[in-house]
Formats: sequence, structure tokens, C-alpha cells
Amino acid sequence: MTHTAPRAASATAPSNIAFVKYWGARDLERAVPLNPSISMTLSACVSRCEVQPLPGGEDEVLRRVQQGRGAERTERASPAFAGPVLAHLERIRRRTGVEGAFRIVTGNSFPDSAGLASSASGFAALTLALARAMGLRLTAAELSDLARRSGSGSAARSVFGGYVEWPAEQPEELAEASAAAPGCPAAEGSSAAARPLARADHWDLRDVIGIVNRSPKPVSSREGHRRAVTSPYLGRRLEKLPERLARVREAIERRDIGLLGPTLEEEAVDLHLIAMSSRPPIFYWQPGTLEIFDAVRALRADGLAAYFTVDAGPNVHVICLPEGEETVAMRLAGLSAVERVIRDGVGDGPS
Ligand code: PMV
Repeated sequence: MTHTAPRAASATAPSNIAFVKYWGARDLERAVPLNPSISMTLSACVSRCEVQPLPGGEDEVLRRVQQGRGAERTERASPAFAGPVLAHLERIRRRTGVEGAFRIVTGNSFPDSAGLASSASGFAALTLALARAMGLRLTAAELSDLARRSGSGSAARSVFGGYVEWPAEQPEELAEASAAAPGCPAAEGSSAAARPLARADHWDLRDVIGIVNRSPKPVSSREGHRRAVTSPYLGRRLEKLPERLARVREAIERRDIGLLGPTLEEEAVDLHLIAMSSRPPIFYWQPGTLEIFDAVRALRADGLAAYFTVDAGPNVHVICLPEGEETVAMRLAGLSAVERVIRDGVGDGPS
């Protein structure tokens, strides 16, 4: 426990795109995933969070909303947005023993209307800024574990740069510790934190994102995790995963996009197969999603190594090598269903 006086702090954390997806939780409240996941940390899509002590005041959550062409405004966050942010603030306040209120201002480098999920980067940035503001000295693994507890499990991966794995198993010593001291925050039923597999400079992969719909997704990923266990196909996917994880690790190690790509696409399709067969079903794809899949397959038929993946939404991430990026971006921009193209690539992690 620290007795440091709180101070102003800020942090920037990147978004990440999962090659092997986190979908389904063993314990949703504590974000203990059903399966390990592997992601690439992005570079351009980042969230920034500023935290300031408010002596004598009440906690405040504000959002910096980008409006395009560099213009932005700051507004009070809605209760739905502020709820998990305040819960995470309270979690860290209890852990540190720091007292007093805070103003939290959070925003993204990409327009909020772009239709891109920002919970991983947002909660990673919030965790880093709050830890710093309250004088909590943690290792990267401990920060990753703390970010996971925010409610966005994938935030655990955004604490690291490059290629990152988030294991699903609960390490024995932590399981024992949490059984021995159930209320103790350090031991609270934890799964392992995420860990880096390779640095960003190991492999320069690009992510060309085709936005086909900017609206917020109709069903949250949290609800998707909850419903996943109702799909008859969940067990089949979990059986396939050890082999897929091994292939993705090997593809990253050997920088082999031909090995990575087909697994990437299988994983994206399986997540949506499970979502569509959950009770009640969730349909994230839209016609434009399939239009991009077709375009990617056509590019491959022409010899370009490009592969798609999709998170819980309709927008498509196309993973390719630097030499293919321009062609992929032009092709996506030419599709009638694509509203906007964002170019990103592997990044170094938070600052
Ligand atoms: O971190 P959450 O609870 O928002 O879930 C992330 C779910 C996916 O983005 C669809 C997959 C992943 O591993 O990032």
C-alpha cells in the first residue's frame, strides 16, 4: 500500500487486433478468459487518458470527442461510458489506499465516429494513468493484469508493444493465493497477465482497416462473451485452438504471413459463427463486411498476401506486408460499402 499524495498523470495506450480471439469467459466479472488469445499491438489507433486530483470535489469523467479535421470538444461522459471507468478508478483507489476525487479525461486518436472499438486502448491508458497518479509502482505484467480487471479483457494485451499473448490459465500460485485471501486485491482470482511474444521491430505487419459502419455495435463484446457458452460450436473451436495458437506463434516467430493468414481468417470466421449461433444470436457482419472479404480473396488470387480479420463489429482489418499496403488501401477505398480506410501497423506499445 502506498501513501503517496495523488498527482496529475497521463498515459497513451494503443489498440490491438487479435489474431486468435478472446471470445467467451470463464469468469466474466473478473475477465478470466475461456481461451488464450494472441494480438498485434497497433501504432496509430491510440487512446490518451489524463487524470487530475480534485481536492474536495467529486469524481468526473470527461470525453474528448474528435470531430474530424483536427477539431475536438470535451464533454461529460454518459453514465454508460462513465460507469466502468469509475469502477476501475475505485478498484485502484482501494488498492492503493489513496483518497480523494479525480477528474478523468479520455479520448482517441481516431474519430469516435469511425466505428472502431476503443475499449482495449482506453482501459489500458486509464490503468496506466491511474497507477501513475496514485504512485502505484507495478511491473508491466502487473499493469496488464490490472488492465484486464477493467472489464475489457483485451486491455491486458494493450499494455505491451509488438506481438502479445494473453494466456487463459490461472497460475497455480495465484489460484492458491486467491483461495487463501479472497478479498485481497493482489490475489483476486487472477488469470495470468498478457506477455510479449515478439517486439514490433521483429516483423513489420500492416493493418488496413475498412470501415463499413461507424455506428456503435448493437451488442457489446461483454454480452457476446456471456452468450458464447450457449453456442453448440464453442466446444469445437476450443478443441481447435491449441493447434491454431501454435501455428500463430510459429508464424510470428518465422515472419511467415502465408502460415499466419489462413489461421487469422479461420479465427475471425469462428468468432462470428459462435456469435451467430449463440442464443439469442448476434449478427455483427453487414453486406460491406462480405464485400471486403471478396476483395481480399481477389487480391490474393492476384498474388498479394493479404488476409482479413474482424472483431465484434462489421469493420474489417486486412493484415498485409508493407509492400502490399498501398494496393490493399486503394482496393478497399474503391468499394462502395467502405466509408473510410484507416492505415495502421504494428506498434511499440504505450507511452
Ligand atoms: O476485451 P473485450 O471484453 O472488449 O473483448 C474483446 C473481444 C474481441 O475484440 C472480439 C476479441 C479480442 O480478443 O480482442
